[in-house]
Amino acid sequence: MGKEGRFERSAIAPGKIILTGEHFVVNGGLALAGTVDRYIRVRARPADVFSVRYGFPGMKPMTKLARDHIYASIKDLLDGKGASLYVESNIPIGAGLGSSASSSVAAVLAISGLLNKPLTRQEVFEHAMKGERLVHSNPSGIDVMVSIMGGFMLYRKGEEPRPLNTAPLRALVVDTGQRHRTGDMVNGVQTFAIKNRELFDGMVSMANSISSSAAQALIEGDLARLGSLLAFNQELLKAIGVSTDKIERAIRSFRGVSFGGKLTGGGGGGFVINILKGDVIGVNTRRWTGSFIANLGVGGAKIEEPAHIHDGGLPN
Ligand code: MEV
Repeated sequence: MGKEGRFERSAIAPGKIILTGEHFVVNGGLALAGTVDRYIRVRARPADVFSVRYGFPGMKPMTKLARDHIYASIKDLLDGKGASLYVESNIPIGAGLGSSASSSVAAVLAISGLLNKPLTRQEVFEHAMKGERLVHSNPSGIDVMVSIMGGFMLYRKGEEPRPLNTAPLRALVVDTGQRHRTGDMVNGVQTFAIKNRELFDGMVSMANSISSSAAQALIEGDLARLGSLLAFNQELLKAIGVSTDKIERAIRSFRGVSFGGKLTGGGGGGFVINILKGDVIGVNTRRWTGSFIANLGVGGAKIEEPAHIHDGGLPN
């Protein structure tokens, strides 16, 4: 047993990468996204009151929001009961990889396991969305849905997600080192949309075409086409004001080895995704600490078997 004592149930949930369509998806557009092999684990045990502790660095400035966010996701499930949660993560925070959504999903599943209350996929989604609405007022739900379902999917707000039958993909994800609040980025885009309604509507339909073509390219394994669609999507994201000089530099740095790259998630920094040409071995990421070759399209969130709770460490 670890120093955290005997936790009764645990669940893990992967992060996500948006390949195309972020921000436009908040406004009714179509987006293409998949999971990434970085995870949050939430361990839960019965307690008189609700409490949450974080077993990884970098949470200090955000502890209250993170705590409130997790609590909002599980409050209705707890129904007046307490619970003690312990959160571990290897998903970088505020970087566009879906750390907040994954923590909500893992917390909901851990509590569902702890209280022996099985939930449907839609119920897990709805509980987790209560936390997401605290982080930014108008989430599309894509981050939560991808983390729950795993794999890749086409997603439009309010519609049934369309899972893609495709092999996992390896991609280079580059850390710009800049961090953002998704809510601020989403609000900035809303201001742009209000000021430029007709133009923005045209961009939403372009994002729709980019996402359906990118899904087709992914299914066919046509990485050159996928990369060029990502690069085109990046131009739209730049136009709506969510790119930064650092993001543009991170994309340019890998031009020689990449079919195309773009920011992923809220923007304003965070990670850039690059679709690599051929063999991924030997890419020099030294100037970009925190970058990694990611496996995209891994399995979705799950309650762990009790025997696996204390196996030490998250996958990866
Ligand atoms: C954040 O990962 C993706 C955004 O489109 C916001 C959302 O869809 O909720 C920027």
